Amino acid sequence: MKIAKHGGNIYEVAEKLGIQPSEVLDFSANINPLGVPTSFRKALIENISLIESYPDPYYQRLIQAIGKYHQINPNYITVGNGATEIIFSMISALKPKQALILAPTFLEYERALAKVGCEVHYYRLKEELDFIVDEGFLKALHEEIDLVILCNPNNPTGQMIHHEIMDKILDRCREQRINLMIDEAFNEFLDCPDEKSMISRIESYKNLYIIRSLTKFFALPGLRIGYGISGNLDMLQKIASVKEPWTINSFAALAGEVVVKDQEYICCSKAWIDTEREFLFEGFQGIPQIKAYRPAANYILLKVLDDQYVFLQEKLLEKNILIRSCSNYENLNKSYFRVAIKDREANEKLIRALREVFYEG
Ligand SMILES: Cc1ncc(COP(=O)(O)O)c(C=O)c1O
Repeated sequence: MKIAKHGGNIYEVAEKLGIQPSEVLDFSANINPLGVPTSFRKALIENISLIESYPDPYYQRLIQAIGKYHQINPNYITVGNGATEIIFSMISALKPKQALILAPTFLEYERALAKVGCEVHYYRLKEELDFIVDEGFLKALHEEIDLVILCNPNNPTGQMIHHEIMDKILDRCREQRINLMIDEAFNEFLDCPDEKSMISRIESYKNLYIIRSLTKFFALPGLRIGYGISGNLDMLQKIASVKEPWTINSFAALAGEVVVKDQEYICCSKAWIDTEREFLFEGFQGIPQIKAYRPAANYILLKVLDDQYVFLQEKLLEKNILIRSCSNYENLNKSYFRVAIKDREANEKLIRALREVFYEG
């Protein structure tokens, strides 16, 4: 099992460099650079006294707001302290014996599966296909598998699963009575996110469990808020029974209620991601020492093409820039790195810094 070391640990890096965490230019965590929505900042100040009471244990207002956001029945929603809590509680409730996951993919699935003693099988994505999920995945769905976890778009590759393949996977999983968990933590960063989400399928596929996060697109990773969606009400009951009470604090619940209604923030974020995704990707195309995989979301997987540059993370740290090494992902190695797409000033700094590393040694 790979050790779950994530991006975003600016505290460890700052201590090593002898600087303040705020001085680290952090490309290792994939967070919307527009920062906390102003609508939530205002709501937080106006509702500071929420701290004096317990949150609603059923989080009804939050669940109603999420239901409206997706135009779905609120009974299909379960909320948690980040998508991470939902991943762990769903897996505890589903109790899989043999699970199939992508390699590489988000590391916490494996930790959650290990916690319930589940055997993990990997579908190794092929570098020559730019790590997309191909038809071969269907053959890997053998009869002992009882849970499939897909991350769409996948982290760290930034690749989407094509609709036709996804449809086949949905049908095959239903036929073979395999539960299917799809993590859509980065969905809002996509072009046409609603079309690319599988939320519309939850009524037809009772074996389908969708994971969503509000921490990335709405820039709330320190607050922790996520949710799960499924049309399987019995299983949602089981998930509720394994969860601890009040895992979402009052401010996180308030944030969830407010941000999903903030159309202005959503529109500005879309404008930013559309422009900067192209800008950064194009910038990387001009650097022959790296291969950049075309991104669907707000982060880009890079491969250094010459072994002398596997120390890229260290080299950039000398300039106070932190990128995510992908050496601890199954099926990747120390030649791979992931960078977040940030604002124009930061993106330009990264491109300049990379040029300096490659051309000036
Ligand atoms: C694919 C994926 N799912 C879920 C999470 C966890 O999200 P949250 O911050 O909501 O717990 C992450 C965090 O990096 C992630 O990359």
